[in-house]
Amino acid sequence: IGRNIIHYSSVDSTNMEAKKIALEVEEGTTIISEEQLKGKGRLGRNWTSPKGKGIWMSIILKPDISPTEASKVTQIGAASVSKAIEEIGIKNKIKWPNDIVIKGKKTCGILTEMSGEINRVNYIVVGIGINVNLEEGDFPEDLREVGTSLRIEKKQVIDRVNLVSNVINNFEYLYKDFINTRSIKKSIDICKESSALLHKRVRVIKGDNIEEAVAIDINDDGHLIVKYDDGNIKEIISGEISIRGI
Ligand code: BTN
Repeated sequence: IGRNIIHYSSVDSTNMEAKKIALEVEEGTTIISEEQLKGKGRLGRNWTSPKGKGIWMSIILKPDISPTEASKVTQIGAASVSKAIEEIGIKNKIKWPNDIVIKGKKTCGILTEMSGEINRVNYIVVGIGINVNLEEGDFPEDLREVGTSLRIEKKQVIDRVNLVSNVINNFEYLYKDFINTRSIKKSIDICKESSALLHKRVRVIKGDNIEEAVAIDINDDGHLIVKYDDGNIKEIISGEISIRGI
């Protein structure tokens, strides 16, 4: 991972660039840009990506897995970033499935995109956006309450090169383990240890339907297990469902 890095000063979206070249390049090729003009978030949202202030990167993978397993790679990404941020001395939590939060505010998001057939993945692009050195004024007004950066939390400018190399090293270790063992247990253990949701009451939101439950586990497939007040237990596979702490 990251042996072949393509570095841009500006692109629309590193995920879009990665998808263009995914079939031609070797696995692990990583695209990093100083800024994104049309950074993409989940659920069709925009991702603010000002120049030189964050880590905006996409890792191209070609594992021999089925499309239903693709979300496992998101868990590997979340575990890699959480550990990398911890390694530079900043405590953080993973809000399942793929946000990293500090004191409840989002500091990293992951957008995994895939191309594949019914039972085989052609490629997976793991897009990672880390708000490293953004200042309050860099966030759109409506995000100031819910978003933060490492700089804002640590009250000092953070070395992006050191951080990105931690992320890539962690990702390589956890991804290799997944390929060798066919299990993401190592990543799940990290996700559980630093989970922002486990053992807490959560709202399970699907469209207009909102239900309350307790998050009781993350299973070996990376799915969240919730328990309703009537004792019913349900496995949640992310997608359109969004989870809010209460
Ligand atoms: C989210 O909504 O939480 C996911 C945000 C993902 C942002 C990253 S930044 C690098 C990569 N390129 C994109 O356009 N998006 C992802």
